Amino acid sequence: MNEGDSTPYTWSGRFSEPMSDTVERYTQSVDVDKRLWRQDILGSLAHARMLARQGIISAKDLQDIQQGMSQIVSEIESGSFNWSPALEDVHLNIEKRLTELVGDAGKRLHTGRSRNDQVTTDIRLYLREAIDDILARLKRFHIRLLDLAEREASTPMPGFTHMQPAQPVTFGHHLLAWFEMTRRDAERFADVKKRLNRLPLGAAALAGTTYPIDRDFVAGELGFDSICANSLDAVSDRDFAIEFCAAGALMMMHFSRMSEELVLWMNPRFGFVKIADRFCTGSSIMPQKKNPDIPELARGKTGRVYGHLIALLVLMKGQPLAYNRDNQEDKEPLFDSVDTLLDTLHVFGEMIAGVTACPENMRNALHQGFTTATDLADYLVRKGMPFRDAHEAVGKTVRRAEELGVALPELPFEEFRKFSPLVEKDVFEILTIEGSLASRSHPGGTAPEQVRSAIFRARELL
Ligand code: ARG
Repeated sequence: MNEGDSTPYTWSGRFSEPMSDTVERYTQSVDVDKRLWRQDILGSLAHARMLARQGIISAKDLQDIQQGMSQIVSEIESGSFNWSPALEDVHLNIEKRLTELVGDAGKRLHTGRSRNDQVTTDIRLYLREAIDDILARLKRFHIRLLDLAEREASTPMPGFTHMQPAQPVTFGHHLLAWFEMTRRDAERFADVKKRLNRLPLGAAALAGTTYPIDRDFVAGELGFDSICANSLDAVSDRDFAIEFCAAGALMMMHFSRMSEELVLWMNPRFGFVKIADRFCTGSSIMPQKKNPDIPELARGKTGRVYGHLIALLVLMKGQPLAYNRDNQEDKEPLFDSVDTLLDTLHVFGEMIAGVTACPENMRNALHQGFTTATDLADYLVRKGMPFRDAHEAVGKTVRRAEELGVALPELPFEEFRKFSPLVEKDVFEILTIEGSLASRSHPGGTAPEQVRSAIFRARELL
């Protein structure tokens, strides 16, 4: 910002005519970036404390700045602050008001700083907070998910491959898969936070500044782990925002997959779960309907977060060092991603507590799907038959059961003997769902005891 502003335009010293309305409308970002006002003020105050500490501004200036800023905070909070598009963005709006309130001290605030290092500092502070909120909401979702998994630790349901009934698993085991998926999302966000938690301030416009600044002090004041090591890189890259959206896109992908399963399971053909009425909606024309709108919307909203990730990648790809105005376009995708992620986590966290299993329907689906066929093959292998032969014999047995319209455990003993003379009366034990589940008892397996210890470990992790 130029020294000695007296006109509305901060840089008008260099210009001979005012900006046209069209250009003002096209270039202003305050409608969007005013959302960063808290971070902007926080950053400015830390910068001002550093300037005073280094003797670059006086103690009195600092005091004026602090007093002016607290007035601005109350104006913004009460809604009386006058945001002006003519002042372009959140940074200039606040600085201009500060100068109105405290005079020269306000004009000194921007010493040794540029909007280029200011804006990326603000975004980093903003995303750092967003990540903390996301992690807190993920944790709440996880706690409720584990509660449900514990209640359903030994409830049998069909596991699917190719969306066809495959083998019995427990509902708790399935829910623990959701836990693993979304636990990695939490790890990813924590990782993104590490890399974005570095201070750009001090880079100024691009090359650093001639004033005797103390960047480490500012980093400490603002809770950054370190400073950005190169001034050109500090003001120009938005890779941290891209990483954030990538982590967000993956998280939404997981919530979309879970949503898809909930939608299927709620369909009466499955009837595996019920979702509490408060998370469903009806139809304006069909009185019988109960629709899974929350999972459907989560699935739908995934698309916009993918879109934002692509928008940011494309925004960045053609930019030479250092700052370019293109970067102003980073905020809408970021803000909408944050809103979508937080809202989705919030509503899912509540909804998961309202999910109940329908064990009868799950069990019926297990029987209709001949899901213990692999257990029968393993049984024949234990009796000495090579696995490929066992696979063939069981395939024929299943076909016979299908012809007779019965589940495997209901097939008469003589029928089993037709396809494999090795079968004895004990075969009926291994055809039970409970037997099938209990026999997969190793870490990561679906046996109820394994599910319970996985839940125990998961709780320790949280
Ligand atoms: N509103 C701008 C942005 O979001 C702030 C930085 C502007 N810097 C500049 N030299 N015009 O990127």
